[in-house]
Amino acid sequence: MSKQTQPAQAAISVSNLNKTYENGFKALDDVSLEVKSGEIFALLGPNGAGKTTLISTICGIVRPSNGSIKVNGFDNAKDYRKARQCVGLVPQELTTDAFETVWRAVNFSRGLFGKKPNDAYLEQLLKDLSLWDKRDSQIRRLSGGMKRRVLIAKALSHEPEVLFLDEPTAGVDVELRKSMWALVGKLRERGVTIVLTTHYIEEAEEMADRIGIISHGKVILTEDKTKLMKKLGKKELVLELQSPLKKLPKGMGKLDLRLEDDGNRIVYTYESAKEENGVASLLDSLRDEGIRCKDFNTRESSLEDIFVTLVKEK
Ligand SMILES: Nc1ncnc2c1ncn2[C@@H]1O[C@H](COP(=O)(O)OP(=O)(O)OP(=O)(O)O)[C@@H](O)[C@H]1O
Ligand SMILES: [Mg+2]
Repeated sequence: MSKQTQPAQAAISVSNLNKTYENGFKALDDVSLEVKSGEIFALLGPNGAGKTTLISTICGIVRPSNGSIKVNGFDNAKDYRKARQCVGLVPQELTTDAFETVWRAVNFSRGLFGKKPNDAYLEQLLKDLSLWDKRDSQIRRLSGGMKRRVLIAKALSHEPEVLFLDEPTAGVDVELRKSMWALVGKLRERGVTIVLTTHYIEEAEEMADRIGIISHGKVILTEDKTKLMKKLGKKELVLELQSPLKKLPKGMGKLDLRLEDDGNRIVYTYESAKEENGVASLLDSLRDEGIRCKDFNTRESSLEDIFVTLVKEK
């Protein structure tokens, strides 16, 4: 990717940003935020928190009510073109020119930013996104997952240094999700700064260096991912019992357990990031107490759950 600026500079610098929509709804409330160059920043928040609004103002699609935004040092109001050229946006909604072919759409998109044609770059891009075979297909003939990849290709067509991914994996299958993650890893190696929004804790865990949490238009927390996951990452182990229990045996009282479904199910909540998560000792005590299971599974607390707690706390 071409570098227009020194790497030490913040890729994105937002200060005291406010957005009130025309109907009077305040979607962003005094947001200040810095994203370092080369960083992967995940923006998390419940539906309607203001994630898309924040991303859209940084990309210059939505006009802020006040406050300042800089991308690679370029002021998003005074130096609009330069700031806009630095960013690529993969929107949340699938909007593509249905009758265009993949190749022409991506080429056109590059041209919009005034970049010289570079077929070799675009070919590699489509190959990286497993779209090369489909380059001559009309977009309307592609599957939903492929359409999403076309949006990514378009967003990357002008070699932006900052890429915004608004819910890149909402509603896509596991395979595509994994391949998105791989792509993000590749872009990071090339030094691209990435801001993504997601509802999947697994996704933030997999990809982000830093996490910001937004609620009711306010960024209520920004934190290093590892630290945040230690604080918030919870998992549940659900054990379906062969015969119901009236109550939990005394010896098992030390663990965070609860009995559900008329005593037919034990649910153990633990911190997923901890190595000593207590699962081993739970299994030991089940054996000691002669409790037998017919089935078990684990589930992760969703970010939505975590937000609810966190947002309530604030
Ligand atoms: N053009 C608009 N006019 C008025 N209100 C709007 C407009 N666009 C968004 N909003 C409101 O602003 C709030 C934030 O919306 P936004 O799309 O930024 O949320 P989000 O965090 O991206 O949510 P989701 O997780 O559902 O994508 C919502 O209450 C929404 O209804
Ligand atoms: Mg959104």
